[in-house]
Amino acid sequence: MAGMLDGKSALITGGGGGIGRATALIFAREGARLAIADASEDAARETVAQVNAAGGQAMSLSGDVTESAAVQAMIKAVVSAYGRLDCAFNNAGIAGYQVDAGGKRTHEWADESFDRMIAVNLRGVWLCMKHELPQMMAQGGGKIVNTGSIAGLIGLPTSSAYVAAKHGVLGLTKTAALEYATDNIRVNAVCPGYIETKMTEDTMRRRGAELMEKVPFRRMGKPEEIGEMVMWLCSDRSSYVSGACYNVDGGYMAI
Ligand SMILES: NC(=O)c1ccc[n+]([C@@H]2O[C@H](COP(=O)([O-])OP(=O)(O)OC[C@H]3O[C@@H](n4cnc5c(N)ncnc54)[C@H](O)[C@@H]3O)[C@@H](O)[C@H]2O)c1
Repeated sequence: MAGMLDGKSALITGGGGGIGRATALIFAREGARLAIADASEDAARETVAQVNAAGGQAMSLSGDVTESAAVQAMIKAVVSAYGRLDCAFNNAGIAGYQVDAGGKRTHEWADESFDRMIAVNLRGVWLCMKHELPQMMAQGGGKIVNTGSIAGLIGLPTSSAYVAAKHGVLGLTKTAALEYATDNIRVNAVCPGYIETKMTEDTMRRRGAELMEKVPFRRMGKPEEIGEMVMWLCSDRSSYVSGACYNVDGGYMAI
């Protein structure tokens, strides 16, 4: 049976981590040729090893999504390896504790913490699109999926800049969907709820039981459950879908 992404080339940022790595394995299962980008070169290489072990094709790229030149180089590398860029999953991101803002209310965030959060989680997504879109226009189309969050839809105490960045990602997604609709480029977002990755380990250890009370499914999501949605959005099966933000959250946003 044909794979849903047979012959497509795909770039995944943050591909060395939980959601990015799981999505890479799903894309490979569906026949995509992959470029795995991550700020951690070792993490990207580990994902490539797992994809290759599963019979897929992948190359690793290093690069911080906050640096325009690095992002441009990433896209150039994908195009020189695979000839085109069909799918881009702009997924790299960080949590509050990674900018020393864990547990802090709005007025307690340091200026530097706020700026770094916006640089990675919002500007990084914009920079990726900025360099992906011209390539997709030149080749006649493409699909972009950005990683939002339930934090892009509601407020979450002590997550000030994270929430602001994720709301911004959804704004960028909808705007690009409108701007490039006639260029045959679809732009969508996925909004994960609480997912089992390194990012949530610490929070879950401290407040897992309390948080799961608010999730109708009473469990965390698995990274693969996000990856399946991203794969569908990057496939031709979602051909009439653009500017959409899909919640994959065990029912969290239905309350
Ligand atoms: N885990 C969750 O519950 C959850 C919920 C909603 C949204 N998200 C979002 O999902 C995305 C992936 O997160 P995850 O849960 O897989 O976390 P993760 O920490 O496992 O993976 C994130 C990856 O991004 C990489 N990264 C961080 N900063 C980078 C940068 N500047 N440039 C390039 N790569 C960088 C990291 O090295 C890591 O491999 C993030 O955007 C996150 O905000 C996660």
